[in-house]
Amino acid sequence: MYRLRELERKDLNIINKWRNDAELIEKLGAPFRFINLDVDVSWYENYMHNRGKVIRCAIVSVDDDEILGLISLTTIDSINQSAELHIMIGNKKNQNQGIGSLAIKKILQHAFLNMNLHRVELTVLSDNDRARHVYEKCGFKKEGIKRKSNFKNGVFVDTYFYAILKEDFLVNADKMSTWGGHRYSYYYTKHSEAA
Ligand SMILES: CC(C)(COP(=O)(O)OP(=O)(O)OC[C@H]1O[C@@H](n2cnc3c(N)ncnc32)[C@H](O)[C@@H]1OP(=O)(O)O)[C@@H](O)C(=O)NCCC(=O)NCCS
Repeated sequence: MYRLRELERKDLNIINKWRNDAELIEKLGAPFRFINLDVDVSWYENYMHNRGKVIRCAIVSVDDDEILGLISLTTIDSINQSAELHIMIGNKKNQNQGIGSLAIKKILQHAFLNMNLHRVELTVLSDNDRARHVYEKCGFKKEGIKRKSNFKNGVFVDTYFYAILKEDFLVNADKMSTWGGHRYSYYYTKHSEAA
C-alpha cells in the first residue's frame, strides 16, 4: 500500500541520490547535472517558502514510510486554475509496479477536488514510452509537440505536451476500476450541474 505525504527534509538524502542517477534523469526533461546535497537543501527551503505555488509530495510505503518516488504540482496558477505535474519513481525495482499510476490518480484527485484546479499539464520526452502510456491511461490528452527541443545524451529529441481537464478526470476516474472506492460520478454530476 502506498500513499502521498508532503515532502520532508529527511527525504533529501534519497532524493539527492536519485538526482545523481544519470539513467533516471535521462527520462526527464531536465538535463543531467551533478547536484550536491547543499543544492537540494536550498531547493527544499525554497519550496517551503513557496508552498502557495508548489505542492511536493513523497510517494511512500504505508508500512514503513519508505520514500519510493516524488510527485509535484508546480506553477500553480489560481487565475487560470492550472498547474504542471512532475513525477519520478526513484528506484528501477519500484517502477512498473502500479505505484506511478496510483500517485498520479491521487495528485489529480487533490488538484481537482481540493485545490479547485481545472487543468493539469505536463511535458514528456517523445521516447519515454512508459510515461506516455501511463499519462494516457490516466486520461491525459496529447496537445502538441515541440520538435527537437531537448538535448539528451548528445541528440535532440521532441517534447510532447499533455494535459487533463477536470471534466476528463471525473469521467475517466469512474472507468478505472483500479481507482475504485470513490464515487467520481457524484462529483461529475455536481460539477455539470454547477456549470
Ligand atoms: C514513468 C513512471 C512515473 C511510471 O510509473 P510506474 O509506477 O513505473 O508505472 P505503472 O506501474 O503505474 O504503469 C506502467 C504501465 O506502463 C506500461 N509499460 C511499461 N513499459 C512500457 C513501455 N516501454 N512502453 C509502453 N508501456 C509500458 C506497463 O505495462 C503498465 O501499463 P498498464 O498499467 O496498462 O498495465 C515511472 O516509471 C518513472 O518514474 N520512470 C522514470 C522517470 C520518468 O520517466 N518520469 C516521468 C517523466 S515525464
